[in-house]
Amino acid sequence: MDINCTEKELFLLKKIAHAAADLQMPCFVIGGFVRDKLLDRPTKDADIVCVGDGIDLAHRVAERFQPKPQVAFYKNFGTAALRIDDFEIEFVGARKESYRYHSRNPEVAPGTLEEDQLRRDFTINAMAISLNQPDYGRLVDPFGGQKDLADRIIRTPLEPGQTFSDDPLRMLRAIRFASQLGFQIDPHTWEGICLHVDRIKIISQERITEELNKILLSRKPSVGLDLLYQSGILHIIFPQMVDLAGAEYIDGMGHKDNFYHTLQVIDNISSNTDDLWLRWAALLHDIGKPPTKKFEQGHGWTFHGHEVVGGRMVPRIFTRLKLPQNEKMRYVRKLVELHLRPISLTKENITDSAIRRLLFDAGDDIEDLMMLCSADITSKNKFKVKRYLENFNMVRQRLAEVEEKDRMRNWQPPITGELIMEVFSLPPGKLVGEIKNAIREAILDGDIENSYEAAYGLMVKKAAQHNLHPIQ
Ligand code: CTP
Repeated sequence: MDINCTEKELFLLKKIAHAAADLQMPCFVIGGFVRDKLLDRPTKDADIVCVGDGIDLAHRVAERFQPKPQVAFYKNFGTAALRIDDFEIEFVGARKESYRYHSRNPEVAPGTLEEDQLRRDFTINAMAISLNQPDYGRLVDPFGGQKDLADRIIRTPLEPGQTFSDDPLRMLRAIRFASQLGFQIDPHTWEGICLHVDRIKIISQERITEELNKILLSRKPSVGLDLLYQSGILHIIFPQMVDLAGAEYIDGMGHKDNFYHTLQVIDNISSNTDDLWLRWAALLHDIGKPPTKKFEQGHGWTFHGHEVVGGRMVPRIFTRLKLPQNEKMRYVRKLVELHLRPISLTKENITDSAIRRLLFDAGDDIEDLMMLCSADITSKNKFKVKRYLENFNMVRQRLAEVEEKDRMRNWQPPITGELIMEVFSLPPGKLVGEIKNAIREAILDGDIENSYEAAYGLMVKKAAQHNLHPIQ
């Protein structure tokens, strides 16, 4: 084998090779599996291409396993897939036309291995390993994929215009691979991307977002995000991000470029977390800045309330990008809304009640919020950064002390709405909420003790102001 495989992978490839030999069908492992093996990256699936019917081969392979795995196949596309334990194997017959996954145009023209390789997206994804008897394990690399891997280059095997118009998603894939692998895009290929950006409009939002998420999950997401911006793709797929770019000057006073600031924040946070949603929060933390930007005479640029406006933008952005509309979205919104709060606690004379409020509002997400806020410190002035981080550590300490003392993190006020309704025989309504909030606020402010008795006392007092008294 020209690549290093695990015992299990070798076992699976041998089975496939024997099944292909039975059918006298030339067969190869190709694409991402070969690329990732040569890069020493982990693999969890493999694509098999055969010169013949991929569905027949998949069935023949399945018969060689006990118990026999199910074969999922798509007759129109001539593709089939099966899973052995947690390893997914896809089969396809070599074809002349491009690898659009389940594209709208299902006519498949059979072709040779080389024709098939030529219609793949990048040279590094077009390498194949023979599973055939005479040259089992040999690398078939007609377009210099191995050299491009060594030179860390993303390049199309065909004229870029042809490869990208076959499937415009590949423009995003090029940028995603550059970001994921730390590769450069070949200048001619890059030109092809810049010329065809408009074609991205025909790609479904789900596939665009899948690539965007992969860029966000890469080691240094700024690489991919900047390429998206430079190419003009970001203008089409995520215009609110582009609105962050640039710095305006009035009377010699400017503000920082919030696009590049955001990119730095994402890189900062990415060195501490692999969590996609925390990375999304970093991406969106200042998204409310463009709509709130103002120049105040004698004062300079302000972005008052950008965290609230930004928070409100989160559900709309999630809907447009077809991201989940669930607790993940609420989490991102919450972090965007709260991202200035810890910084505001670095001032002197901060009361326990301000700290308690933050613990209450952030709940279990307090550590993530603190991580976002540290990542948000991006000044070029090293002394400033040092001072901020020191102040920040003080906030962390205060948070820990107050949490230890008051246990606010998952705190619920001791009096529920149900209890208020029961004690005063009230129907659900505004007044119940008012009394409940008054109790919560009084405890958070430290005006009354965090106990059932104190809360009960305040409840009776508040209700009396509305001429309500406990029903005996
Ligand atoms: N492919 C292509 N054009 C696409 C998608 C895929 O030419 N738009 C080809 C490439 O040869 C690719 C192979 O199909 O290597 C498998 O595609 P896929 O599984 O989507 O990607 P991988 O390259 O395996 O990488 P990843 O799993 O990281 O997406």
